[in-house]
Amino acid sequence: MGRLFRKKKINTIVAEGGDEVHGGTGLHRVLNVRDLTFLGIAAVIGAGIFSTIGSAAFHGGPGVSLLFVITAVTCGFSALCYAEFASRVPVSGSAYTYAYVSFGELVAWIIGWALILEYAIGNIVVAISWSSYFNNLLQGLNIHLPYWLTTNLTTANEALAAVNEQLAKGAAATADMQAIIDGYNAAPALGSSKLFLNLPAFLIVALITALAYIGMKESKKSANAMVIFKIAVIIFVIVMGFFYVNTDNWNPFMPNGFTGVLQGVSAVFYAYIGFDAISTTAEECKDPQRDLPKGMMNALVICTILYILIALVLTGMVNYSELKVDDPLAYVFDNLGLKWIGYIISISAVVATTSVLLVFQLGQPRIWMTMSRDGLLPKRFSKVHPKYKTPAFATIITGFLVGIPAMFLPSSIMTDLTSIGTLFAFVLVCLGVLLLPKLQAGTQGKFKLPYVNGQFILPLLVAAFIFLFRDRVAASITNLFHENHQEVLFLIFILIAVVIAALTFIRKYSLIPVLGALSCMYLMIEIPVNSWFWFFVWMGIGLVIYFFYGYRKSKLANEQA
Ligand code: ALA
Repeated sequence: MGRLFRKKKINTIVAEGGDEVHGGTGLHRVLNVRDLTFLGIAAVIGAGIFSTIGSAAFHGGPGVSLLFVITAVTCGFSALCYAEFASRVPVSGSAYTYAYVSFGELVAWIIGWALILEYAIGNIVVAISWSSYFNNLLQGLNIHLPYWLTTNLTTANEALAAVNEQLAKGAAATADMQAIIDGYNAAPALGSSKLFLNLPAFLIVALITALAYIGMKESKKSANAMVIFKIAVIIFVIVMGFFYVNTDNWNPFMPNGFTGVLQGVSAVFYAYIGFDAISTTAEECKDPQRDLPKGMMNALVICTILYILIALVLTGMVNYSELKVDDPLAYVFDNLGLKWIGYIISISAVVATTSVLLVFQLGQPRIWMTMSRDGLLPKRFSKVHPKYKTPAFATIITGFLVGIPAMFLPSSIMTDLTSIGTLFAFVLVCLGVLLLPKLQAGTQGKFKLPYVNGQFILPLLVAAFIFLFRDRVAASITNLFHENHQEVLFLIFILIAVVIAALTFIRKYSLIPVLGALSCMYLMIEIPVNSWFWFFVWMGIGLVIYFFYGYRKSKLANEQA
């Protein structure tokens, strides 16, 4: 057990990162607080606000803006905890490294493995979304790629089944429906099936991987330019949109109740993911301990304001029931006959998703680099390119890991997996902060999480939560073995909340990290149970790999031996 929970010392970790300690063979320090804020926004604003917000608004109605507030508060707690860690442990491993100093090696590996869901799997979703917006743009220019080169088999089969269902009901075939049938029939045969591959998704991943390979300076410049453009378009959408808001559309605010609003949890949380990703650039920051916390908080605050306004505008412009489309922002303007605005939004969506791809494609190799330095992954993952000063091998592997599945897989379940994986990392980062001061007394960073004693406040909040949700608690208990497993997750959450409240009462835990952990757990249990199954499968695979490789090869293990 001791070996599984062996911990790294902060001083050792800090001494391992950065160009200076590698005698000029490490990464380049080129980022300041403005770059970090921009990189944060580059990572956050993307497929979520341009695509997945549509189905969230369809289920939740205007009330989805409330979900944007709740999620922002949750992310805010986590961002503060990330900020404390980032200022004390300024190396590229992000949550993985934070767990290594607070919980020990096994949990660190588990988080590192879960972060692949956030970065690589998350980027598969972004690449697919990029491809669909890009395809819209091409079609606007009258360029039509063959259907079989723009989607995957599952999505093509679903689209064909939906068309056939319409036709069976006696609907007349529209041009779009006919295009799907013709496109399907024209796809090359592959055995008894058909060949479909999302080529644009692969190509954009290949291009972005090349940019990430060449260097942080080049990546930073590209990200800055893309961020300025997408923010300008979003502000333009908000301002223009306000003129077309019909306040009747905000009434009822929650047409499907709070349950309907909660159906958007995964999609809305997905839209916020990314502010944490800049912590992977710690070794490329000029003053990471001061600038990383600032960069993260700036990015989160700016995105939150924009998101809430967008959600209100979107649900005010049309009835929420019309929003179940892949390109809701462009749709609402097209709907008004303002096709040129729709077109600008589509261009901006392509730019925005490109910048998200870039930051995550930069982040994943840097986490692997840190894991490899610790011996938990093969040495090649931490090799820095002598000329470009980037983790070259790890960058290329990330390219394949994202690019190939993006060609063949559908994105739906991966959004949930990304959100669960990220929330899981957030929970452990929040809880890790509670362990940090005790472990490393005297080690101070340039950002300190304010201590608010949770002794009485937290038990009161948990009691208020249980009171508010008393009907759901009662129903869950009554139906325990009859209902779906979602309610089991809910009861487990209540149990954990009560235990944490009791511990906080006894040990006077700091309120912010505890609230951060509990609110992330709550968002997690609202994600469909089916996705949880795949999450456990993923984590199971990770554990097997750890016990066969990292457990024996760990540098810390060998040092201790
Ligand atoms: N937050 C990022 C996006 O919405 C992942 O694309």
